[in-house]
Amino acid sequence: MRILVVGGGGREHAIVEALARSSTDTDIFCAPGNGGTAQIAQNVALDPENPMDILLKAEELGIEFAVIGPEVPLVAGVADRLDDAGIRVFGPGMEAARLEGSKQFAKDFMVRYGIPTARYGAFTDEASALEYLDDVGVPIVVKADGLAAGKGVTVAREREEADRAIRECFDGRFGMAGATVVIEEMLVGQEATLLAFTDGQTILPMVPAQDHKPALDGDLGPNTGGMGVYSPVPAVDADTLAEMQAVLVRTMQGLRQDGVHFKGILYGGFILTEDGPKVLEYNARFGDPEAQVILPRLETDLLEVLLAAADERLSEVDLTWKPDAALSVVMASGGYPGSYETGIPIEGIADAAAVPGVTVYQAGTRVEDGAVLTAGGRVLDVTALAPTLAEARDRAYEAVDRISFEGAHYRTDIGAKALGDAAPAAGASSVAPEEMTR
Ligand code: AMP
Ligand code: GLY
Repeated sequence: MRILVVGGGGREHAIVEALARSSTDTDIFCAPGNGGTAQIAQNVALDPENPMDILLKAEELGIEFAVIGPEVPLVAGVADRLDDAGIRVFGPGMEAARLEGSKQFAKDFMVRYGIPTARYGAFTDEASALEYLDDVGVPIVVKADGLAAGKGVTVAREREEADRAIRECFDGRFGMAGATVVIEEMLVGQEATLLAFTDGQTILPMVPAQDHKPALDGDLGPNTGGMGVYSPVPAVDADTLAEMQAVLVRTMQGLRQDGVHFKGILYGGFILTEDGPKVLEYNARFGDPEAQVILPRLETDLLEVLLAAADERLSEVDLTWKPDAALSVVMASGGYPGSYETGIPIEGIADAAAVPGVTVYQAGTRVEDGAVLTAGGRVLDVTALAPTLAEARDRAYEAVDRISFEGAHYRTDIGAKALGDAAPAAGASSVAPEEMTR
């Protein structure tokens, strides 16, 4: 089967790798892909945000099945375009992807369907936003309404910081994505992600994972797309999991009631508060880096699951999972999530991958003359599978220690919340916060 995976991050490397393990014979193309996907698939140069470009390329390559990784092409309607042209596709259409594409839309939806979430207000001008802030005070969370690669959210503990975040949105820091600003109550608790495959009728929840959004150890510094992740999540006990699953089921029912057909992955970003799990955000796709720990744990043939979802026969599928734990550490470019250089040589990937249970998923990388170079903010996802989370962490950090590139920074406390300690793994080191911005 000729398959096109759209995207070029660590998530897409993990998706391509899982598809390549399928018992079905596959020819996999990845657009645009990265240094990692180039080793197991054929990278195809194209603009992943341009639906027409993707359709033309898919037709030219004789693609029989397309899997859309990132949010931007989904929100841009790539799945609709391929579907209209008769190409089987995994990923929701533009209308369903609004659940991710607009935070205000998602919040209004949650309120309509009684889904627990933070109290909020939504504003299209600075004066009303600031006036609301006068009423509610700090701490507070300021969010650009649209897509901002995980960087459009500021958790502000000081009034000044909240004011600045609001001003930056309206000054165009996030372009049109910041034309509406959502201001919401700050919730307290551990975060957990629960993803589910759905074909619009059946919903198959996956195993929970815990991402680490802030750039620095101790959950300090600016928000990023995600700096590390592990699965399973001890903080999610059986009752909590049942509540999170019920929220996803209610979400699907709400979508159906609204006449929206959602096929793909429903991503619930939860915070586990004293009053139970509440939804921080929805996404309409695999998480990145969540996919890098969830897919290695999936025993079921991923291609069969994705095809069943696309063909609306997900009720025929059972998901089975490995009992092993997985933990992934993101190695990022110096300066990320701010500006950073690219083109820096990376050493030690093969050495790192030789640690038992370790896979190095590549994200922002490219290959030039046989050398792997940095090409993005999040560069590598160093992932380990092991019988326990503690072993997975030790293996992942042992592998991280074997990799070097100039300016690399990573968190040394991935998994600490689950393992009950905040101590960095032996030998691990990272740059100090003040060195982060150049
Ligand atoms: P979002 O993209 O909406 O999930 O926000 C990104 C990150 O910001 C979340 O993963 C949390 O770490 C943090 N965050 C967002 N909303 C809130 C909230 N209401 N209370 C506390 N933290 C939040
Ligand atoms: N890891 C968070 C996301 O994929 O949005």
